[in-house]
Amino acid sequence: MGAAFAMAFLWLAVCLTPISCLLQMDQDPDPVIKNLRMDPERKRMSWDLHGNVSQIWCFVNSRRAHKARNNTYCKFAHIPCQATNYSVSVTQGPPFSGWIQHPKLEGKARAAAENLTCWVHDADLLTCTWAVGREAPRDTQYHLYLENLHSLQKWPCSQYRQDEWGTNVECRFDDLSVLSPELNRFSVNGSSRESPIPCSEITKTLHEIERLTAPTITSAWCNQTYSIVQWQVRSHFREDFEYELEMQQGAHLEHKQTEDNFLKLSNPGTYTVRIRARHTAMLAPSWGEWSVRERFVCGRAPLPVWLTSLLIALGTLLALALVLLLCRRYAVMQQLFPPIPHVKDPISDHLQNERMMAWEEEKQQECPVAEVQILGEN
Ligand SMILES: *[C@@H]1O[C@H](CO)[C@@H](O)[C@H](O)[C@H]1NC(C)=O
Ligand SMILES: *[C@@H]1O[C@H](CO)[C@@H](O)[C@H](O)[C@H]1NC(C)=O
Ligand SMILES: *[C@@H]1O[C@H](CO)[C@@H](O)[C@H](O)[C@H]1NC(C)=O
Ligand SMILES: *[C@@H]1O[C@H](CO)[C@@H](O)[C@H](O)[C@H]1NC(C)=O
Ligand SMILES: *[C@@H]1O[C@H](CO)[C@@H](O)[C@H](O)[C@H]1NC(C)=O
Ligand SMILES: *[C@@H]1O[C@H](CO)[C@@H](O)[C@H](O)[C@H]1NC(C)=O
Repeated sequence: MGAAFAMAFLWLAVCLTPISCLLQMDQDPDPVIKNLRMDPERKRMSWDLHGNVSQIWCFVNSRRAHKARNNTYCKFAHIPCQATNYSVSVTQGPPFSGWIQHPKLEGKARAAAENLTCWVHDADLLTCTWAVGREAPRDTQYHLYLENLHSLQKWPCSQYRQDEWGTNVECRFDDLSVLSPELNRFSVNGSSRESPIPCSEITKTLHEIERLTAPTITSAWCNQTYSIVQWQVRSHFREDFEYELEMQQGAHLEHKQTEDNFLKLSNPGTYTVRIRARHTAMLAPSWGEWSVRERFVCGRAPLPVWLTSLLIALGTLLALALVLLLCRRYAVMQQLFPPIPHVKDPISDHLQNERMMAWEEEKQQECPVAEVQILGEN
């Protein structure tokens, strides 16, 4: 009696520590679920069922994922290339849980490529970058593959950029038109002579990783009372954009959001505008790049004819005044530095002297043209 009580107490104590209980269940000689296995081709985890249970759930990395179908398998949309923990749990019926890892982790987890990031840019290009795993052997080489998870088509990367050790750390695809905007897997696997290199991956649609280029202005027109500017954004994936405009008229700075791809202003004057875009049909779209600031001078109407004539007349007068001023300056120079006398020629010298005297007496403003005539008589 006492021994039996002690035994029961011992069992209770053992079972209160969860790990022992789990072991106890896993070691159940006749568990309801046996032979847990993964079929990566059919994306199924299945098992053999022994007994009567009413509900089984599947978990991925300890997160509840699917209710089992026919209590005998779970189907997944996508089997990652990274080591992943798949587990099952009987939620109604005799308690059971078990797990498997797929694929098996080989080598050091931190030898895998780290911080894998991919983005679409300049409309036609796709770039992925990653960092060499901290525990990757020196001779590690990485390769990137892009796989359409819908059609299961695969594309290996052909344009790599290497770090100083010759390890691939960036890849570029420069023809997006062959790729599908559907869900894609970007995976980087690696190889080394020292140890296996685990794989890294991310899954994204191309439009969700697109960094929009700056909008380009396709047409612009303005006069004093009215201005219109139109622009467009290049993208292979979406056409529904939202724009942010930054306009500056004098000291007044204004931000405006719109879904129109044009801007109409009345009495625009002189203004600058720059534009950026984002996708609207996304949960948390981020803004693309700003376009360069464009300046529009729309202040002046064409001048009326009478004003144009008046301005021409004024200009002529001004030019005339300038010429007169130049003449006066020339005359002063002549007085300061008189011309050097030439070989004596009594007749013409006499004549010239007389003329010079006459000019001086008149105290008139001489013009260079007149001076040339006098010298020409020599
Ligand atoms: C299985 O259990 C359910 C109740 O949970 C019961 O109705 C059913 O008859 C059982 N089936 C078998 C084959 O034992
Ligand atoms: C896998 O998941 C199960 C259930 O969440 C957990 O008990 C088990 O320890 C996990 N295994 C690994 C290797 O993380
Ligand atoms: C459901 O599972 C039972 C075994 O538990 C099997 O005999 C039966 O064929 C399965 N049905 C379907 C539709 O898979
Ligand atoms: C990956 O990114 C994290 C966070 O930005 C950073 O702390 C870490 O150093 C990066 N890993 C490598 C190998 O550069
Ligand atoms: C990397 O993955 C590709 C495509 O899945 C495969 O063809 C290749 O053999 C793998 N390389 C290594 C080193 O695992
Ligand atoms: C500016 O252009 C608009 C549209 O063509 C026109 O209606 C308006 O009269 C023009 N204004 C001036 C000052 O020319």
